[in-house]
Amino acid sequence: MKSWLTKKYGLEHLQLVEQAVPVPEPKQIVIRNRAVSLNYRDWDLLTGQYSGAHTLPLVLASDVAGEVVRVGSEVRDFIVGDRVTGLFRQHWLDGEPDAKAFASSLGGPLQGVLSEYVLLEEKGALKTPAYLSDAEASTLPIAAVTAWTALVEDGQLQPGETVLVQGTGGVSIFGLQIGKALGAKVIAISSSDAKIKRLQSLGADGSINYIATPKWDKAVLDLTNGRGVDHVIEIAGGESLQQSIQAIRTGGHIAVIGYLNNKIAPLDVTSLLWKRANVRGVTVGPRRSFERMLEFFARHEIHPVIDATYSFAETPKAFAHLGRGAFGKIVIAD
Ligand SMILES: NC(=O)c1ccc[n+]([C@@H]2O[C@H](COP(=O)([O-])OP(=O)(O)OC[C@H]3O[C@@H](n4cnc5c(N)ncnc54)[C@H](OP(=O)(O)O)[C@@H]3O)[C@@H](O)[C@H]2O)c1
Repeated sequence: MKSWLTKKYGLEHLQLVEQAVPVPEPKQIVIRNRAVSLNYRDWDLLTGQYSGAHTLPLVLASDVAGEVVRVGSEVRDFIVGDRVTGLFRQHWLDGEPDAKAFASSLGGPLQGVLSEYVLLEEKGALKTPAYLSDAEASTLPIAAVTAWTALVEDGQLQPGETVLVQGTGGVSIFGLQIGKALGAKVIAISSSDAKIKRLQSLGADGSINYIATPKWDKAVLDLTNGRGVDHVIEIAGGESLQQSIQAIRTGGHIAVIGYLNNKIAPLDVTSLLWKRANVRGVTVGPRRSFERMLEFFARHEIHPVIDATYSFAETPKAFAHLGRGAFGKIVIAD
């Protein structure tokens, strides 16, 4: 089978190689990869900036959907031909993650999914809902589960509350879609007016261009009559975290997810305590959260927003697009 392998950091070092098709252990399955979606994490890894555990050579990418082609002797949940979607952390089933869960992340430290055939744990795969294509399903394991954890599992978002999403990447667009489906108001910030138009067509109730309005936290307060938002999807880190504290209502919830600006965030501690803000780190979510999210997505017929689809042969082009930033998700599917 063909795999895209990274032996050295850098887009120019992505290499198409021939590897053996994996053979399942008793509680594992092998799937024919039908679609992979990329995450910012994959770019971080490819460019040598990712600080989490991994070693090269590594097949990158974590999110995959496909069709079961072989099952281990003790597998009961699947039969050959089932459509499935992978779980990012193969051994994180519920509760808080332990070392075993972290060690089971696809695409670092485990080998990733940019191969024609992919080995998954039986419990590390979920049946793909019939209403979703494989390309759509492949976008869910990291970005959608992260937004779901932030707003629903941790945030307990209620109808009528207000959510702030930052930028138009995978996590934020899912945050917008989940927020709207739950009856929340969503304010979005983006670097581009053209993207803001697209955000409005997806239902954003308020929008701010953070390049034209660098003090976007003040603009958020203006849009909420000085009260502030109930939830923030904080994907930028750095100085943005302080701005999120300014933009949150007293007692509101900030889900700290990303670090597109900076991993280090300067903070005025007094602003945090006066706001009594709940600042909670997110690291995707377990299988149980993914299951609850799939039920919710199916009930609301939520279709992921896919910016572009590349063929398996065009994988380096897909990564280049990821590096430029996508509106929603980038998919690799033939
Ligand atoms: N903790 C977790 O569980 C978890 C899970 C998934 C992702 N993440 C992290 O979350 C971040 C986003 O991931 P993603 O996969 O959604 O990324 P992505 O799809 O690559 O999103 C990139 C988009 O983010 C926006 N952006 C960039 N810099 C920004 C800034 N300073 N302020 C506001 N928006 C900014 C841009 O949109 P505009 O041009 O519209 O501004 C850009 O197109 C990354 O740091 C990633 O590592 C963490």
